[in-house]
This record gives sequence, C-alpha cells and structure tokens, in this order.
Amino acid sequence: MMSTLRQKEAPALPKNPDATAKTPVWRHSHILDVDDFSPQEIELIFSTTDAMKEVLSRPIKKVPALRGKTIVTLFYEPSTRTRISFELAAKNLSADTVHLSTSASSVTKGESLIDSLSTLQALGANVVVIRHSQSGAPYLAARYLEASIVNAGDGWHAHPTQALLDLYTIREHKGKIKGLKVVIIGDILHSRVAHSNIWSLTTMGAAVTLCAPPTLLPAGLGHEQKHFPKVSLEPDIERAVESADAVMTLRLQRERQQSGLLPSLREYVQLYQLNESRLARAKPDALVLHPGPVNEGIEISPGVAHGPQSVIDQQVANGVAVRMALLYLLVGGKSI
Ligand code: CP
Repeated sequence: MMSTLRQKEAPALPKNPDATAKTPVWRHSHILDVDDFSPQEIELIFSTTDAMKEVLSRPIKKVPALRGKTIVTLFYEPSTRTRISFELAAKNLSADTVHLSTSASSVTKGESLIDSLSTLQALGANVVVIRHSQSGAPYLAARYLEASIVNAGDGWHAHPTQALLDLYTIREHKGKIKGLKVVIIGDILHSRVAHSNIWSLTTMGAAVTLCAPPTLLPAGLGHEQKHFPKVSLEPDIERAVESADAVMTLRLQRERQQSGLLPSLREYVQLYQLNESRLARAKPDALVLHPGPVNEGIEISPGVAHGPQSVIDQQVANGVAVRMALLYLLVGGKSI
C-alpha cells in the first residue's frame, strides 16, 4: 500500500513520487539537453531519483504517479539501454507506453518527422521520447508539439538523460560532484554523451579532462576555455588519468578509421585504451564509466570493464530511476 504523500517547499526533495504537486524549482516542459539546467534543477533530479530508487527497492516496483499518461518512444536509430529503460520507467510509474518502430511505421512511406509527431499527439501522447540521427530533431519536435519531448540522443549533439544518469552514478559513489576530476577518453567529436556530460559535470563543479586523438576533438575546443573554464585537454592518456576520481571511456565507432580519422584501430588501442596499468594512475577508488555499448578490447580492456572499479552495470540500472524521475518531473503533476 502506498504511503501518504507530503510535499515540502522548493527546493525540498519529493519524499514520495506518488505526490501530485510539483516542486516549483522545476521549469522544463521538455528535456532537450542539459545545457540550460541549473545546479538546483540537477539537485532536484538527484533527489527525485533517490525517491524513485526507493520505489524500485520495494517488492512491487510500481506507483500510480503517471496513471492515465501515455509515453511514446520514437526511435529512428537503434537502442538497447535508453529505449528499454524509458519503457520500464514509464511502466513503473503506471503510464501507458507505446513504441513506434520507424521501420514498421508510415515513416517507411515517406511520412515526415513532424507528421509522425502530430499523429502521436493526436492519438494522445503526453511525452514523446525521441532518438534521431539528425542533431536538433528533438528541438524541431518541441517547437511543433504540445506534448513533452525528451531527447534520447540526437546525432552528435546531445544525450541529456545519459549524462544525468552518469552524473547520478558518480554522485551516488562519491557523495558529491564538485571538485572531482572526471576524465573522458575517446571520440569526443562524435559523442553526444560527451557533449552533454561536459555541460552537466561542469555545471555541478567537476573539473573535466578530455583525452582524444586531435582528429576526434571538436575543432576549437582548446580555445573555448572561457566557455568551459573547468575543461582541459590532455592528449596523453597516462597524464590525463593521473589522480582522476572517475574515468569515462567512449565507444569507438569502427567507421572512424574508414573515414580517415584514425590510422588504425591497433594504434588507437595502443594510445587510448583504458587498461589496468593506465587505470592504476587514477585514484585507487576511481570509478570507471562507459555509456555503452562497449567495444571490449578496443576502448576498454575486459579486465577494466568488468573490474572492481567499473560501475557500468550500475549506470544501466540507474538509468531506469533517473528516467522515472525525469518523466515524473515533466508530467507527474499535470492533470489530464
Ligand atoms: N547509452 C546509450 O545510449 O545506449 P543505447 O544506444 O543502447 O540506448
């Protein structure tokens, strides 16, 4: 049986996600990226996630917070973790869920993104979780729809819910984000995960070090220190990892070699793989993160991926609670 609910004043934490009133600090109708999230809003997501984790620890992991709401997942690109965790998150909050597979929809007959979204809204979608290969597609959707749009990854641009679950996982282990040294290694240029993580980590006061071949760094990032004063570049992995509190490796897409950005995968492994000896340069209790999918033996050695410092499985598990929190904050307090 659900406990009685109580809502404190902002920025107090929602003690129970069954609550229907919303905390005033929340001001987002959509989640498009984390670049416009304040530290207070991120703290609210953390505290709401804590409440969702409590729900997930119950024998019956379900609350009626989103009963009567419809959450649609619309994925124009493959996904395992993000799609499934959004669907589980919605079901745990008692929402109705629909997945629209673009290969089995009228998209194959040439229907545009906006037409697909308008149809979903007309059919009663309250939230559309969208993944698209084009950067900016969720922003376009948010301009045309009244339903809340959640960006589940757009092109190279952003993956805000992944960044928030990464942040939550670090905070869960370290108790804080401020003052931590977090190293991100790999294909920063093409990584929507890295871009959103840079925003969220620096917003919360972490010092971020980026380590990548020069061809896999965004042009001009080295000159953006005034925009990202807490971001530094260190191409040498041994120096980058030195004294780190958390190290995140990114999936290396094999196409990068075909497109001429890397001489060879073998050289990449030699210079940028996170392996046991390199990890030993970080703090002894440093966390190892990876957003997945993992190419074991390329960007990360199997021993590190499955070693005691790896929190990769916890990232996946926390994805459900973080996405429950985000769905709740978006539509949990609205009446139908
Ligand atoms: N991290 C991530 O976005 O994984 P999926 O592609 O499996 O959703």
